Amino acid sequence: MTDLLKNRRALVTGAASGIGRATALAFAREGAHVIVADRDGGGAEAVVAEIAAAEGGAPEAPCASDAGGGPAEAWEVDLADTDALEARFAEQPLDVDVLVNNAGIQRIHPVEEFPLEEWRLINRLMLESPFVLTKAALPAMYRRGWGRIINLSSVHGLRASAHKSAYVAAKHGVMGLTKTTALEGGPRGVTCNAINPGYVLTPLVQNQVADLAAQRGISEDAVLDEVFLEHSAVPSLPVPEDVAAICVLLASEAGRAINGAAHSIDGGWSAQ
Ligand SMILES: NC(=O)c1ccc[n+]([C@@H]2O[C@H](COP(=O)([O-])OP(=O)(O)OC[C@H]3O[C@@H](n4cnc5c(N)ncnc54)[C@H](O)[C@@H]3O)[C@@H](O)[C@H]2O)c1
Repeated sequence: MTDLLKNRRALVTGAASGIGRATALAFAREGAHVIVADRDGGGAEAVVAEIAAAEGGAPEAPCASDAGGGPAEAWEVDLADTDALEARFAEQPLDVDVLVNNAGIQRIHPVEEFPLEEWRLINRLMLESPFVLTKAALPAMYRRGWGRIINLSSVHGLRASAHKSAYVAAKHGVMGLTKTTALEGGPRGVTCNAINPGYVLTPLVQNQVADLAAQRGISEDAVLDEVFLEHSAVPSLPVPEDVAAICVLLASEAGRAINGAAHSIDGGWSAQ
C-alpha cells in the first residue's frame, strides 16, 4: 500500500465488477477507505473481502469522516431507483471525499423499437443517479474545501454508434453534468472529470469475444481485431486496472488542477 489517498473516504458505484472493482482495489491500495456500492450485494462483499485480505485483514484507521471500521465496506443498493436514493440522502447525508460514478448497463435496439422503460432505466442509472450522488456529495466536500468526482462516461459520451441511443444519450448527458459540476466545484476545491473508455477488456467483453469467436468460427484474436479494435489505432485493449490508474491520478493531490475534462482511453478512436 502507498498513501496517495490516505485518509480519503471514497464511494465507488458498480464496484462489484469490472472497472469499478479495479478502482475500489486501487483506491484501497492507496490508503483510501472504500465504500463498494453495487446492486450485487454478494459481489460487493467479495470485493470488500478481497481488499481486507490484500491488507492482511487488519482494520485500518479510517478516513476523513470516521465512518467504517475497516479498509472497505459494502453498500447493496439499486442506483436506478433514484427517488429512493434522493430520499435516503435527505435522511442520511453523504460524506465522502471521492465519488466515482461508474455503475452502468447497456441495451441495444434501433431507435424506433427502443422500449421506453429500458430507455428510462439506462438514463436513471447512468445520468440521474450520478446527478443525485453528486448533489448529495457536494455539501460535505464544500465544507472541507476538497473533493473529487469522477464520472465513468465512454467514447460514447463523445461519439455515437447505431442502436445504442439510450447509452449514448446518457453518456453524453454525463459529460454535461461533469463540466457543470467542474465549473461550480473548482473554486471550492472540488474537481469533476470524466473518463471515456473505448472497449475495456472486462469479463463481459472477454465473454463476448469468446461467444463471437464460437458463433463466427474464427479465432478470439480475429474477433478482437475485427470487432473490438475496429476503431482503435492501438492494437490491444486496455484492462480495468488501466482505467483505475486514471481514477487514482484524478483522485490524488496531483489531480487538483485537472477539472472538467474528458480523459479518453480508447486507443485513438475519438481522434478520428
Ligand atoms: N467495459 C467497457 O468496455 C466500457 C467501455 C466504456 C465505458 N464503460 C463504462 O464503465 C462503467 C463500468 O463498466 P464495466 O464494463 O466495468 O461494467 P460491469 O458490468 O463489469 O460492472 C458494472 C457494475 O454495475 C452494477 N450495476 C448495474 N446496475 C446497477 C444498479 N441498478 N445499481 C447498482 N449497481 C448496478 C453491476 O452489478 C456491476 O457490478 C460503465 O459505466 C460503463 O458504461 C465500460
